[in-house]
Amino acid sequence: MSPEPIIIDCDPGCDDALAIILALHSQECDLKAVCTVAGNGAIDNTTCNALNILALCDRSDIPVYRGCSRALDNRQPATVEAFGDDGLGGYAQSIASDNHEQPKDAVAFLVEYVNNHPGEITLFATGPCTNIACAIRNSAEFATNLKRLIIMGGAKYTGNVSPVAEYNFWADPQAAHEVLQAGIANVTVIGLDVTNKIALTCEMRERIRLVGTRLSRFLYDITREGLDDNWRSRHKAVAPMHDVLTVAYMLDPDILEVRPANIEVVVDGLAKGQSIIDIDGHWHEGECNAGYAASVDADRFYHLLFTTIFDEEIE
Ligand code: RIB
Ligand code: CA
Repeated sequence: MSPEPIIIDCDPGCDDALAIILALHSQECDLKAVCTVAGNGAIDNTTCNALNILALCDRSDIPVYRGCSRALDNRQPATVEAFGDDGLGGYAQSIASDNHEQPKDAVAFLVEYVNNHPGEITLFATGPCTNIACAIRNSAEFATNLKRLIIMGGAKYTGNVSPVAEYNFWADPQAAHEVLQAGIANVTVIGLDVTNKIALTCEMRERIRLVGTRLSRFLYDITREGLDDNWRSRHKAVAPMHDVLTVAYMLDPDILEVRPANIEVVVDGLAKGQSIIDIDGHWHEGECNAGYAASVDADRFYHLLFTTIFDEEIE
C-alpha cells in the first residue's frame, strides 16, 4: 500500500518534535510539509525548531511554511513553560541548521495544496488550530477537500492550563470552535484524557539515552524540561508526549478507542478553551462532528513508538 500523504501543522514543542520524528521513521506515511503556528513558542521559534528537527533527521527536503503568529482574536498565545524558553527544553541550539522556510505562508500553502489534492491529505494539528481555521475561512472548498483531520486538543475530564481547558484549544478557542464546526467529514480529537496516559517514564528516557545515537540523545535531552516541570507542578516523574499520539493513532488505529461525539469549544469567559464532549451526540439529537479518543492502549502505543523510531523495544 502506498504511504499516506500527510501534513503536520504544529508548534514545536518537544512533543510536536516527536510527532514529526515518528512520521519520518514510518514507511506508512509521506510527510509532504510542515506548517508552523505560534503556541509553545513565538512563530520565529516554532518555525526555526521545525526546520532544525527536519535537518536533524536528514529531511531538509521537506518544506516548512510559516503560519500565524497570533490567535484569531489577534492575541499572542501564552507559551508553555514545560518546553523551556526555546520550545525544545533548552536544546534547540544543539540542532541548529541553516535551513529556511518557504516564501509562501502556511495558510496559503494549506489552501493550495489541499485543494489541489482533493480527498488525499491527512492533516495533523498539534498546536493551536489558527492556521487551519484561517484556511477554512479563506477557501469554501478546503473543509470538503481535506481527507482527514487528526487534532491533539481538548479533554472531557481534565485540563492543563485551567481545571477544564487544554492548551491548544485554550490558546485559540475561536479557531478550535470554527474548525470543529466546519463540517470536515473525518475528524479525530485526541485529548488529555488519553495523552496524559502515554507520557515518558524516567526508565524509558534512560533506555532512549542508551540507544546511543544523536537522535536518541536529542530526545533524551529535550524531554528533561517536561519531566522536571511535571515533577515540580504535579509530582509526577514523567515527561509529556501529547502530540506524538496523533501520528501513532494513524499508524495503528487500535491504539485508541474512538467514540463518535459532538464536540464544542467554549470561546471565552471562565471556561475559555473547554471542550464540551457529548459522546454519541446524546444532547444533539445524535449529531456528531468528530471522533473522541476515549481510551488508549498505552503498551501498544509504546511498542509502536519505540520499534518505529529505534527499531527496538524500550520497556
Ligand atoms: O496540551 C498539550 C499541547 O500543548 C501539545 O500540543 C503541546 O505541544 C502543547 O502545545
Ligand atoms: Ca504542540
